[in-house]
This record gives sequence, structure tokens and C-alpha cells, in this order.
Amino acid sequence: MTKKVFIKSYGCQMNVYDGQRMADVLAGDGYAETSRQDEADLVILNTCHIREKAVDKVYSELGRVREIKTARAGQGLETRIVVAGCVAQAEGAEIQRRQHAVDLVVGPQSYHRLPDLLARSRNRRLVDTEFPVEDKFGALPEPDRARTLARGVTAFLTVQEGCDKFCAFCVVPYTRGAELSRPVERIMAEARKLAEAGVRELTLIGQNVNAYHGEGPDGRTWPLWKLLERVAGIPGIVRLRYTTSHPNDMDDDLIAAHRDQPSLMPYLHLPVQSGSDAILAAMNRKHTGADYRRIIGKVRAVRPDIALSSDFIVGFPGETDADFADTMRLIDDMRFASAYSFKYSIRPGTPAADARDQVSEAVKSERLAALQARLEEHRQAFNAAMVGRSTEILLERKGREAGQLTGKTPYLQTVQIDGSGFEPGEIVGVKILSQSTNSLFGRADSVKADGRRADSGVTTDRA
Ligand code: 5AD
Ligand code: SF4
Repeated sequence: MTKKVFIKSYGCQMNVYDGQRMADVLAGDGYAETSRQDEADLVILNTCHIREKAVDKVYSELGRVREIKTARAGQGLETRIVVAGCVAQAEGAEIQRRQHAVDLVVGPQSYHRLPDLLARSRNRRLVDTEFPVEDKFGALPEPDRARTLARGVTAFLTVQEGCDKFCAFCVVPYTRGAELSRPVERIMAEARKLAEAGVRELTLIGQNVNAYHGEGPDGRTWPLWKLLERVAGIPGIVRLRYTTSHPNDMDDDLIAAHRDQPSLMPYLHLPVQSGSDAILAAMNRKHTGADYRRIIGKVRAVRPDIALSSDFIVGFPGETDADFADTMRLIDDMRFASAYSFKYSIRPGTPAADARDQVSEAVKSERLAALQARLEEHRQAFNAAMVGRSTEILLERKGREAGQLTGKTPYLQTVQIDGSGFEPGEIVGVKILSQSTNSLFGRADSVKADGRRADSGVTTDRA
């Protein structure tokens, strides 16, 4: 009988990717993935450590999983519980002290050893948070066609992991370790497999992806733009994205790729965190607000329609009203199409955790609300500007209502269309007719020649 595994990933896109790779590894061990926790023989929580709230969530979820484990034990069924990801890395054995029901704690660098670790944790609880010398990626199985298909026409592909930047608030350099770039040919092999299984859009991911410096096929070190160029040549891959980046690694060659590489989508997620030079310095970001504006100016010069996205932290230690006003000014000047924003969260072990001038919770809440309201205005304005325009969407899946299909614009906006005659994986020309809070609504008017219907060579005019 096949065993069932339930995997829940928290946090960033790299965890989504890691969760899928865990499913791939475990498939070789006879596990099929399930979306129902109560029927799972193995439950994996793939955790996030970036903010305190994310960690709290894991512990409360573990309490619920334990109840299911107990209930299933009453029916004579065994349930094993694994904590993976960044909380596993950071807290190690502490997790099993707080929650005895956990069988195995495995860090992000060791999950390729899951089958072996699961076998060894049969008789005793186990913790593996090593940074092993062998290459995790080299030990992972290739993506399986059926599982890839089931995951859809867009996929993440990790090309770089870890971070050497040491921003004063951030745990990533400690949980994910030093920057490591995968070799170009390994990435190409994985990307080709994904494309063969029907993936049309690839997002190259890394904690600091624009610092990518992997070994190229010529033995030299390749930067991200060159990797993008190579991946763009894979038949079937019609859209490319990359995330997430640091402003200081946004060099001119990568910016030029936004002009020269047609499949590189006009969307850039470039976290700035704050608009105040004093706070940026205290954060150890090593750039100023003016540097950021200059970079964005260059990007917009080569790609005027680019959609910008960013991350913000409010209430970093020492942040004054004037500092916050600088951030709001930067937001108004840049006009982001979307953004993520957070209250500063003290992370033990990071430099900013010990700062004495912590900002009160009340001030953080007030600033976050003001900042999010402004970001939302800009997001809505960006979406409203699409109404009446024609664009192309990549159809991803069934839409909200019967008969609808959902796709994304090059700018990563969600669009619903009447899907009759179309299927996921096609690039469709649409006219945007209207907008709601989180979606655009469009009318399909053509199928692009490099969509899946390329074989028919027909452009349908449905207008
Ligand atoms: N507190 C709040 N937000 C944080 N981030 C990282 N560390 C913290 C922290 N300690 C945010 C940053 C980063 C995003 C992934 O999470 O904005 O870009
Ligand atoms: Fe964290 Fe800064 Fe590295 Fe981003 S660049 S992962 S915020 S240390």
C-alpha cells in the first residue's frame, strides 16, 4: 500500500520549491502526496523563521498535528511528524523539547536525505541541521513528469541559495548559510525537464538571486543575465522571471537584459526596506535611497512599462517620524505595482535584536497601516491603468466561476477570462475590460503563435 505524505510550506517561494523537492525525494520511497492532513502517514511542516509570527504559527500548527496523530493512533494508524525548513535549522532540538510528538527535525540543507533520516528516526527522535559538504541539489531526483504537470504551467527553480549580505534584521544568512550558486548545466537540465513536462513560465529563485555566480559550461563564472539568456533558449519556456534581489547586485548587464531578453517579463521585485538613509545604514543595507532611485531610473529607462515590487520594514530600531516620512516619499516617487510590508520583528541572534532604541508596537502598527494604505492606492492605480488596454496572459488554471480561466499578465496581475476553447499553458491576447480588488477581467482575442497551439498556426479572433 502506498504511504501518504502531507507537506505544508510556509514563507517564501524557496520553501514552496523545497516542499516539492521533498515530495520528489519521498516518491522514490513510496510516498504519494495528499492534500488531506488526516489521511497522511507522514506530515511535514516546511517552516519559516523570518519573523516571530511565522515561528509562532509553526508551534500552534504542531499542536493541531499532534491531536491528529493521537486520534489516528486510536485507530491503529501511525503518523510521523517532520519539521523541516528554517525553524528546524534555527531551533533544532528545541522543537522536540517543546513538542514531543515531532519525530524528525531536518534543516534546509539535509532534506535530500529524508528517506534515510526517516528510517533512522524510527527508534529515536532525530535532528539533522548540518550544512553537509555534498551538494544537496546533486542528490535530488529529477522532477517527475506527472508531478510537474499536476503542479501547473509555472514553476520555481532554485538557482542560488543563502546570503552573504547580513542585513542587521535578517536571519537568512544564519538559517540558509553562505551564498551558493548552482552550476549552469545542472540548472539547464532541471529547466529542460520542467519544460518537457509542460511548464511555460520559470521563475529562477534565490535569497539573493541577482548575485548569482555559478559555474558556466565554459568553466567560467556566469552572472544571472547570462543564465537567463541560456534558459530563455529552452523550447517551451516562454516567460522568465527571477526573485528576489538586492539593489547592490542590480548591475547594468542585468538591467540591459530587461531590454534585450523578450521572454524576461517586465516585473522586478527589488526590496528597499526603507527610504531613510539613516535607517538603511543602520540596517547594513550598504546603499542609500538615492542609490535605489538611480537603479530604478536605469531600469525604467530600458523598460518603461516595468512593474516594480518591493519589501518594506517599518519600526526598525531608531526609526523616527522623519525616517518614516522618507519611506513614504520614496513610495510615492516609485509607485510600486505591488509590495510586501512588515513590522520589524526582533530575531534573536541578529545585530538589530540588541538595539536599545526599539520602536513601540503601537507606533509600528500605526506606520504599517499608513504605509499599506499608500501602497494599496498605488497598486490599484497600476491595475486601473490596464483597463481598456490589450495585453497577453499566460493561462494557468480554472477560474473562480464555472467556465472561467485564470491567467497572469506580464506584470503578474491576475486576469479572469471566459475560458471556452482555451486551456492552461496558452498565451492569449486579451483586452482588459474591468477591475476588482484583486483581479482584472478580460476578453480573449487571440492565441499567440508561441502558445501551445503553435502547431495550428491559426490566430483566433474572438473580439
Ligand atoms: N522583521 C520584519 N521583516 C523582516 N524581513 C526580514 N527580516 C525581518 C524582520 N526581522 C522582511 C524583509 C525581507 C522580507 C523577505 O522579509 O522585508 O525583504
Ligand atoms: Fe536577509 Fe538582507 Fe540577505 Fe535579503 S539581502 S536575505 S534581507 S540578509
